[in-house]
Amino acid sequence: MYVPLFTLLALALAGCGDPRVSALVPQGSNARESLSLIQISAYIMFGVMGVVIFLLAVVLIRFRAKPGDRTIPKQVEGSNLLEFIWTAIPVLIITVLSILTVRLTFSMAQDHSDDPNALKLQVIAHQYWWEFRYPDLGIVTAQDLYIPVGKKISVELWSTDVIHSFWVPALTGKMDANPGALLDGKRQNANRFSFDAETVGVFLGKCAELCGPSHALMEFKVVVLPEDEFNRWVEAMKKPAPKPETTKAAAGEQTFQKNCMACHALEATDTANRPGPNLANIGNRLTIAGVLPAGDDAERAASLRRWIEAPNDVKPQNDVPGTVVMPPFKDKLSPEELDQLVDFLMLQKVDVAPPKAAAR
Ligand code: CUA
Repeated sequence: MYVPLFTLLALALAGCGDPRVSALVPQGSNARESLSLIQISAYIMFGVMGVVIFLLAVVLIRFRAKPGDRTIPKQVEGSNLLEFIWTAIPVLIITVLSILTVRLTFSMAQDHSDDPNALKLQVIAHQYWWEFRYPDLGIVTAQDLYIPVGKKISVELWSTDVIHSFWVPALTGKMDANPGALLDGKRQNANRFSFDAETVGVFLGKCAELCGPSHALMEFKVVVLPEDEFNRWVEAMKKPAPKPETTKAAAGEQTFQKNCMACHALEATDTANRPGPNLANIGNRLTIAGVLPAGDDAERAASLRRWIEAPNDVKPQNDVPGTVVMPPFKDKLSPEELDQLVDFLMLQKVDVAPPKAAAR
């Protein structure tokens, strides 16, 4: 009975262990502590299983009815000692597990918003994309979250529509993003927590709360840089948007101003609340719209074009009724205008490139 079960598990779990996305290969202190809790629980469970299987085997072998023996075994019903033992042991196990779990939960929920050494970050979930604001640095970005290695990131998390959940398996556990209106200058229902990354690299993030037809496509990346490089990235993000140097890109800029600017900002320092993602470093994005490949510039440009032409084909029901939508431009812009627009958008890069080997 156990052999097929373990075979099945081995097959099902064989995909685990990708360091960019696995809670089993932790790259941050939250994930590391969570894993140790998982391990402790698993060891206790294996211990209980061992004892139960052992006792079962003993009973099956030793107390088997012998041929011809028709006596009734000694009845243990109502034994105080036995009742005590099988109540006390589980209570003890549950107590140990709950103390460890509650301690870890509270340590992760620690509010570092007054910690001068922590980097403040606001994470805002939208159907179906992620916005990242650095209130102390005065910049905004989307989809690719840049953080410095080894630093506490103090997060304030909310949503502009339905409930989402912020999850970076390799770095930190799930946290709900609740719809949070601003009331008397205070964000309602925002969740606060902190996390950090202990290694430089790119880690995958997911929305972990069913939020609509494109929930499974609501992905993001966490780009962890050495601190000096992160600071260079911040400075690069603060520079004005690059100006087009070719006539083609200049025409693209016109198209952008006519069609896109109402919803999208081109400069990371433009911190006004806009309906669409900030596009300051769209030419650096590790994926387009969170899911389309962007391994190199050619692939990125092709993905951008595909997204702009028909976003709904990429993310079903991207135009949830009642939300501000990214409309399809297939019929609004000519193929030439689309080319020019993509050319212009591809210029929007900062000169701190994300680490390589970062594809989906
Ligand atoms: Cu957002 Cu699921």
